Amino acid sequence: MNFKELLAAIVSDKDKHARWLNTLSLMENTGARKISASEHKTDVTLIILKHAAEEHRHAYYLKKQIAKLSTDACPTYADQYLLANSDSRYYLNMLDVFVCKYLKNTLNLSGNDLKFAAYLLVTYAIEVRADELYPVYQDVLDQTGSKVNVKSIILEEEGHLEEMLVQLKNFSADWQIHAEKAVEFESSLFDQWVKALEKEF
Ligand SMILES: [Fe+2]
Ligand SMILES: [Fe+2]
Repeated sequence: MNFKELLAAIVSDKDKHARWLNTLSLMENTGARKISASEHKTDVTLIILKHAAEEHRHAYYLKKQIAKLSTDACPTYADQYLLANSDSRYYLNMLDVFVCKYLKNTLNLSGNDLKFAAYLLVTYAIEVRADELYPVYQDVLDQTGSKVNVKSIILEEEGHLEEMLVQLKNFSADWQIHAEKAVEFESSLFDQWVKALEKEF
């Protein structure tokens, strides 16, 4: 099963589709909370605020989409309302752990510098993934005539990737080497997550 086939299988099953939306909502929410948690006490830019606000909106928007499938599905983020619950829950945290370890070992960063660099790399890798995942999902939604729609998220995620690139280029001349490493960590976590999702069938 490739990723699009997996999504088509999820979308064709109303209960799984509701849990998929809830799972994406959880992951967006985790991302939003991580961005806010990594904020410096005073050094907070408009880009960072915009980004946190939009990720929170994605979590809310995805949760709202569930009502188009069933009015009482998935009221919370409890395990039974998610797909691949443990992999989905720890995905971002694991990526953060890998990236922080890498940054400590290669750049010797600590404190606020480590927090900010981890925010840049983790978020960059997630944005690369989001720019791949949401369009495939939207294709499946279009092909099946679903009422669910994630077009507004796709638009904002494209903006995020551009904003992360601007911030990464300011951060380091070697940004590409570090960004590639983050994407490598993310790819292995993604593969693991997809396998866990496949186990739902
Ligand atoms: Fe998002
Ligand atoms: Fe984003």
